[in-house]
Amino acid sequence: MPSANEQRFAIAILAAGKGTRLKSKLPKVIHQIGGRPLLGHVIVAASKVVSPKNILCIIGHEADRVRKTVESYGTGFVEQREQRGTGHALMQCREALAEFDHVLVLSGDVPLIRTETIAAVRDFHIGKDSDMTILTAEPSDPFGYGRIIRKSAGGKQTDEVEAIVEQKQANAEQAKVREINSGIYAFNVKELFARLDRLTTDNPHGEFYLTDIAQILQSDGRKVLAVKAEDSNEVMGVNTRRELAILDDMLRTRKTSELMDNGVTIYRPETVMVDADVTIGSDTVIEPFVQLLGKTQIGSDCVIRSYSVITNTKIGDGVLVRHGCVMEDAEVGNAALIGPYSHLRPASQIGEGAHVGNFVETKKTKLGKGSKANHLTYLGDSEIGAGVNIGAGTITCNYDGVNKFGTVIEDGVFIGSDATLVAPVTIGKGAYVGAASCITKDIPADGLGLTRPELVIKENWANAKREKMKAAKAAREKK
Ligand code: UD1
Ligand code: MG
Repeated sequence: MPSANEQRFAIAILAAGKGTRLKSKLPKVIHQIGGRPLLGHVIVAASKVVSPKNILCIIGHEADRVRKTVESYGTGFVEQREQRGTGHALMQCREALAEFDHVLVLSGDVPLIRTETIAAVRDFHIGKDSDMTILTAEPSDPFGYGRIIRKSAGGKQTDEVEAIVEQKQANAEQAKVREINSGIYAFNVKELFARLDRLTTDNPHGEFYLTDIAQILQSDGRKVLAVKAEDSNEVMGVNTRRELAILDDMLRTRKTSELMDNGVTIYRPETVMVDADVTIGSDTVIEPFVQLLGKTQIGSDCVIRSYSVITNTKIGDGVLVRHGCVMEDAEVGNAALIGPYSHLRPASQIGEGAHVGNFVETKKTKLGKGSKANHLTYLGDSEIGAGVNIGAGTITCNYDGVNKFGTVIEDGVFIGSDATLVAPVTIGKGAYVGAASCITKDIPADGLGLTRPELVIKENWANAKREKMKAAKAAREKK
């Protein structure tokens, strides 16, 4: 018999349903847990078993929206225009699956399924030369799921399945069965499609149930086997918002556990939100109440202090992010110091060893190696060199109400506190800008830019002023 690799193996993901119980404008499978759509999780797990081009997503309800959301994973799509049941969904794939020997069917709303489990079902199915292999589980509450009726021999249950009985059709005896259908199966493609037309809609929902194929196959003498998942949580489906929250929590717990196993310290992991695609290097410490979202990448030996929310940002090694920083689509070089309370907006590039301090906002700005902007500053559309000191309260005035302009600050520049740099403007290498200056023209290298009214000093002015005010008050009170 050919090995698993020699068999032509496809994966089909059922994702055409609406998800009525979520009470949502969005189709169910694009709701997110762990920062990724439900269907995305299933595709990611499946893509490690077969190439994405051998994965077919069956879409129907809001098909275009679902397709757009997961297009980047590179799978194929089949449209099920009317949603007439899980069996009907598979009927739409006859052509697309014609060139395959086996198909593994997954549900777009069962997102915790792991690659290892998918591969185990495939290997079991091929190893046993099975025609239908059903992944089953024994959850604490089997209510609502289809039940697995196993064949018995000599008073003992076997691996073989007689039928799957849906909750609504189960008699009292069948309803007592604790083993449920996960909705995940492997099929011999030829045997499946030879019989799909025999499904009927003779059931409470008037749908073509894929589950009925088990009974049809076995009555034809074909092999229908059950294989039980070790952990029933893995095959939990999302039907309600409560289940969405429960699965999100499970997924994030799984994620932080993996990170800890790989050498990341996470204190109070139950308070930390780490999205599925985030990567973190070893010996990095994550403090409580941190959120690491999207495709954020954090290097080794970093400390991320509490209350920071970091999205799609790349952070190097040995970086300290103090409390309360917000970052999005930014990059931070090795050994940089950020925060507390820094806001790095999209396209901020903070250089190696640079400092960005309290209440500093950056956007589309490159801050060079070792440069410092420590206090109360806005740096937008700026190109800032190495070894630059940006004084407290410096503002790049990048916007005139219509257009945005850039500021260039070359290496070694010293910008005094409270400077306003009106873009477009360039401060040449090694130049100084005096505190409180409003710079509207380029400053040459090693020069000084200073706009400052003459300082006026009036001795004893305050005393005289106070006397005058006192006299005025006394006159008023006399009236
Ligand atoms: C199904 C199984 C049940 C199993 C349970 C596990 C059937 C008849 N029943 O029930 O035995 O215990 O899953 O979660 O299959 N879908 C389509 N097109 C359709 C209908 C559904 O693509 O026409 C998709 C849905 O989007 C969903 C999946 O198929 O991703 C399962 O459909 P759902 O209606 O949730 O089936 P269950 O009632 O959960
Ligand atoms: Mg379901």
